[in-house]
Amino acid sequence: MAAPLSAAYRLDGANVSLVVEIIAEVPAVRYWGPRLPDDLDPAELSALAARAEANASPAYEAPLALTPQAGQGFPGRPGLTAHRGGLDWASYALLVDVEQAADRLVFTSRDDAHGLELVHDLQLSGDVLAATTRLTNIGAEALQVDHLAAPVIPLPGFVGQIIGFEGRWSGEFQLRRQDLGMGTWLHENRRGRTSHDAFPGLLATERDANETRGLAFGFHLGWSGNHRLSVETLADGRRSVAMEALFMPGEISLAPGESLTTPAIFATVSDAGLGAVSRHYHAFLRARPEHQRLRAKPRPVHYNSWEAVYFDHDPQVLMALAEKAAAVGVERFVLDDGWFGSRRSDRAGLGDWQVSPDVYPQGLGPLIDKVRALGMEFGLWVEPEMVNPDSDLFRAHPEWVLGTPPAPQIPFRHQLVLDFGRPEVRERMYADVATLLEEYPIAYLKWDMNRDLSQPGGADGRAGATAHVLGLYEVLDRLRASYPAVEIESCASGGGRADFGILARTDRVWTSDSNDALDRLSIQRGFSHFFPAELMGAHVGPTRCHITGRVLSMPLRVATALFGHMGIEADLRALDAEETADLAAGVALHKAHRDLIHTGALHRIDAAEGVNAFAVMAEDGGEALVSYTMLTEQRGYFAEPLRLAGLNPAAEYDLKAVWPLRLKAEWPLKQGGRFRGAALMQAGFHPPRLHPGTAVILHLKR
Ligand code: GLA
Repeated sequence: MAAPLSAAYRLDGANVSLVVEIIAEVPAVRYWGPRLPDDLDPAELSALAARAEANASPAYEAPLALTPQAGQGFPGRPGLTAHRGGLDWASYALLVDVEQAADRLVFTSRDDAHGLELVHDLQLSGDVLAATTRLTNIGAEALQVDHLAAPVIPLPGFVGQIIGFEGRWSGEFQLRRQDLGMGTWLHENRRGRTSHDAFPGLLATERDANETRGLAFGFHLGWSGNHRLSVETLADGRRSVAMEALFMPGEISLAPGESLTTPAIFATVSDAGLGAVSRHYHAFLRARPEHQRLRAKPRPVHYNSWEAVYFDHDPQVLMALAEKAAAVGVERFVLDDGWFGSRRSDRAGLGDWQVSPDVYPQGLGPLIDKVRALGMEFGLWVEPEMVNPDSDLFRAHPEWVLGTPPAPQIPFRHQLVLDFGRPEVRERMYADVATLLEEYPIAYLKWDMNRDLSQPGGADGRAGATAHVLGLYEVLDRLRASYPAVEIESCASGGGRADFGILARTDRVWTSDSNDALDRLSIQRGFSHFFPAELMGAHVGPTRCHITGRVLSMPLRVATALFGHMGIEADLRALDAEETADLAAGVALHKAHRDLIHTGALHRIDAAEGVNAFAVMAEDGGEALVSYTMLTEQRGYFAEPLRLAGLNPAAEYDLKAVWPLRLKAEWPLKQGGRFRGAALMQAGFHPPRLHPGTAVILHLKR
């Protein structure tokens, strides 16, 4: 037992403060916002928050606790719904213990009457709070858990707008801003993977906050499965954010003594707008121990075979592509789908992770040798959670798939999901992948996942969606432990599995299957709200985009891909000499600046409609890259001046256009110039008049 309980507990980051107050014997967030003065007494906050009794209302308000509880009469959605066959539903856990460290608070509450214990673990790293709730069954019989939220975080009433994320395959991370009223904003995901359409993140702002101004909050759930995100506004004016893994009926039952811990909610806040919120997240991810391996060397430029050859693998063609890739500066060659079993189309072969002897009679050795002789690393595509019914694995183990018989399985890319909740499935898939890693010098796995868990029934007839995700995490963790040098990419038909949970065990995300440079700008902008550039797979696609049919210039395709973990995904044999030269120059430009791109601070710019602009600033303010893309024809003769952000106002910067190689537009600043940071930020400058679908990249050096 720690020190006697006090009334309030506080954690501070450089820019944020958290105050948890014990109200009616339960822990509740009293303040979560921009940093408070060191000497501010939390008692002031509770005095200021005091409210009188309202008409036709309870005499006092049941607390909006870290877990709001039914047993306390909370009028909104509780943080926990659990019961024993309909009994013990009105949880009433009261605080019994607090542990406090400089950056961490752990609150333990117990409810002996209903046999449950709650532990709220709140850890502040940098300016990001990571918080989990753990529920333990301390009763004598099993406890059914319908839902359990990570610690619930209140929003001030004046934070009335939220930005949710929506999207689809090849159109991920799209923002939608909405005003809140009374009631609940709700995003549920039942696709079994993080999903393209319900990314588990949300932003909340005071009215009219933008990239550089206003109070803005960020929330994200680090979980790669079904989830529920809600923002509830009660009639009494209290507003809160709750995030949780979503459970199917009966999916979670805790035996006596058993515990369940929620995925973490990752929260941050700033009074300097949405840009600062993103930078908090980026700094947090960059500081995580699992991210450090990415720091060991520059992120290698990729070549990916998918859009060049699809399933039509021919080692000679792939070797020719490898030569062309090396010639434009590629550093890692990734062999995509189609190399194994009977996988000559998406109708067969998933599950049989042996190199196809028909296509590669000598195995992958000759191709890998060639790739390595060209100075590149070798990467390989796998999709271990899936099986085609037309595969040796399925014929041997039809019982290994998730399903809800007698209902037929919803067809989805001719494949079914292996139940990673089963130990024998995990063991087999670990062994199959490990065999490949033992046999070949593979530096990188593209771990794909191409269907929803539409009917996630396990072998015992119970729902197994949660167990599948936990099983996947276990296999990935085991592979990471056994093969620490192998990098892993999280792909799920593009960006369908991007979250802090999967990123604790993978090294980048395949952001989207869309390589359309203009669509990519908004996808990447959405992605950037939570994730830094070095985790964002971004490829230069073919001349005519295979997904949108749009023809966009090589300079634009380069300008878009250059700001992520850059790669190329096109048939290099089909590019003309000018495109090839531009591509090689673009790769060289990326390499020249990738350290800045992969460590710098991102400043998205609130540009006029029809323009996408952002800057990446070196940590010490010494240099920056500015990206400016014209999306549509501008309204007037000239676009709005562009104001930069994040520069040192007193410093002088040399401004120079570094891309495209041939800037056709007339522009007084074409030859560059020297300007004060304050002038560039407060007055801004006139960008060149660009055609729609063209971009410039500027470099600033102090
Ligand atoms: C998914 C991925 C693609 C590619 C294909 C291969 O769609 O997102 O990048 O790997 O699968 O089948």
